[in-house]
Amino acid sequence: MQQIFGIPISYIVLILEVIVLIVLVVGWTYGARRKDFNLHHKAVYFVVLVHMLTVGVWMIPRALERLSLMLANPIMNWYQIVHDIVGILAIGLGVLLVVIFLARSGMPVKLLKQTRPLMFLTLGTWIIAFVLGVYWFLLAWVLI
Ligand code: HEM
Repeated sequence: MQQIFGIPISYIVLILEVIVLIVLVVGWTYGARRKDFNLHHKAVYFVVLVHMLTVGVWMIPRALERLSLMLANPIMNWYQIVHDIVGILAIGLGVLLVVIFLARSGMPVKLLKQTRPLMFLTLGTWIIAFVLGVYWFLLAWVLI
C-alpha cells in the first residue's frame, strides 16, 4: 500500500474526493441556484484544482497499471470499468462547460439556460463516478 507520511494514499484521495463533492454541491446550491456566481466560481476553481490533482497524479496512473488485469475479467471488474468511463465523461463535460463560459464574457442568462442540462449531466455523472469510487475503495480496503 503506497503511503504519504504513513497514511495510505487511497485514504487521502477518498477524503479529498469527499471534500470535492461537498464543495461541488455547496457551489451548486448556494452559488448557482441563488445566483451568487462569485461563490459558484470559487467552488468550481477549487474543485477543478483538487480533482485534477487526485485524478491526474493518482487515479489515472493506477488505472493504467490495472488496465490489463481489469480487462482480463471485465464482468468481475464492472464497477472499475464503469467508474473510469463515467469519470472521464464527468471530467470531459466539466472542461467543456469551463471552455464555453471562458469563451463568453460575463454571465449571459441565455447561455446559462442553454447549458443547464449539461450542468445537470456533469453533476449526475460526477456523483455516479464518486459512488462507484467509494464502492471500489470499500471492496479494496474494507470489505475484502
Ligand atoms: C468525476 C470523476 C471521478 C471521481 C468523483 C472519482 C472518485 C473516486 C474515489 C472516491 C475513489 C476511491 C479512493 C481511492 O480508492 O483512491 C476513486 C478511486 C479510483 N479511481 Fe476515480 N474518480 C473519478 C475519475 C476517475 C478517472 C477518470 C479514472 C481513470 C481513468 C479513475 C480511476 C480510479 C482508480 C484507478 C481508483 C482506485 C485507486 C486505488 O487503487 O486506490 N477515476 N475514484
